Amino acid sequence: MEKTKIILDCDPGHDDAVAILLAAKHPAIDLLGITVVAGNQTLEKTALNALRVAEWLGVDVPVYPGCGQPMIREKMVAGDIHGESGLDGPVFPPLRGELEEEHAVSYLIRTLLDSDGDITVVTTGPMTNLAMAMRLEPAIIPMIRRIVLMGGSYTNGNVTPAAEFNIIADADAAHVCFTCGRPVTMVGLDVTRKVLCYPEIVERMAKVDNKASRLFVDLMAHFCKTQKEIFGWEGGPLHDPVTIASLIDPTVLTTKPMNAQVDIRSTASYGRTNCDFFGYLGLPANVDVAIDIDVEKFWDIIEQGIRNYD
Ligand code: BDR
Ligand code: CA
Repeated sequence: MEKTKIILDCDPGHDDAVAILLAAKHPAIDLLGITVVAGNQTLEKTALNALRVAEWLGVDVPVYPGCGQPMIREKMVAGDIHGESGLDGPVFPPLRGELEEEHAVSYLIRTLLDSDGDITVVTTGPMTNLAMAMRLEPAIIPMIRRIVLMGGSYTNGNVTPAAEFNIIADADAAHVCFTCGRPVTMVGLDVTRKVLCYPEIVERMAKVDNKASRLFVDLMAHFCKTQKEIFGWEGGPLHDPVTIASLIDPTVLTTKPMNAQVDIRSTASYGRTNCDFFGYLGLPANVDVAIDIDVEKFWDIIEQGIRNYD
C-alpha cells in the first residue's frame, strides 16, 4: 500500500494528541514531521506537548515549533477546554529529546520545495504556519498535494455562534489557505460533533491496554469533563483525528464541493466559514466540505490506530 505523506500542523491539545497517535504509526500514513502553532495554549506549551506525546508513544518524528502569534489578530487560547498546560490530564515523564531548531515555517517551505508535490498538509490548529509559509514562499503552493484541515462549520460555531476555534483564532491565515487554489478538505464541527467519545468508547479503547490506550484514556478523562461542563455533551467530540482517519479511509467522510469563504470582515460573524451548501452564489467550489461521517468506521479506525502500538 502506498503511504500518504503528510506534515501534521497542530496545537496539542487533547484531540491533536490523538491525531498524532493515529498518524505516527499507521501503515497508510507517512508522518514526515510535526509542526506546531499557538492555539489551544501558547506555543511554548503546545510545542512541548507535541514532543511529550511523541516520546510517550516512542515515535521518532521531528517536532518543529512555529508561529506563536496569529498573522494579524490578537492571540487567543482554549484553556477552558484543554487546561493550563494545553494537555491537562496525562502525567508525562521528563522530556529526553528536544524540539528542532528550524522554524516550522522554514521546515514547511524547505520540505514542500524539495518534494515531488506529493505531500498533504494536515492542519488541526490555527492555520498560521501554513499561511505564513505560503506568503513567504508562494512557490510552495503548487507543491502542496492537498490541505486537510480541522476547522470551521457550516452550522454552529464553538467560540461564537458563528465561528469555530481554529478558524477564529487566525481567520486571516485560514483565508489565505482557503483561497490558495490547491485542493482543500474542510473537516468542520458539522461532522466532528458526531464523533462524541462516550464513556463506552473510552472503555473500549482502555481494553486494548497498551501505552497508546493509556494515553487515550488519560486524555479523554480531562477532555470529556471540560466538554461536558461547557457544551453539555456526554462525550467529547474527537475533532482533530477525523482528518487523519479520512486519509486512512476516505470513505469515512462524505464531502461536498462548495464555495467556502472565511469571514474576516464582519464583527458578529467574524471567523465564520461561509459554505455555500446550496450554490446560491454561483461561485466556483474551492473547498470539499465534510457533511457526514461514518461514526462506527471512525471508532474502528481509532481502535486500530491504538492497536498499532505495542
Ligand atoms: C478545535 O479547536 C481545538 O480546541 C481542538 O484541538 C480542535 O482542533 C475544535 O474547534
Ligand atoms: Ca487542535
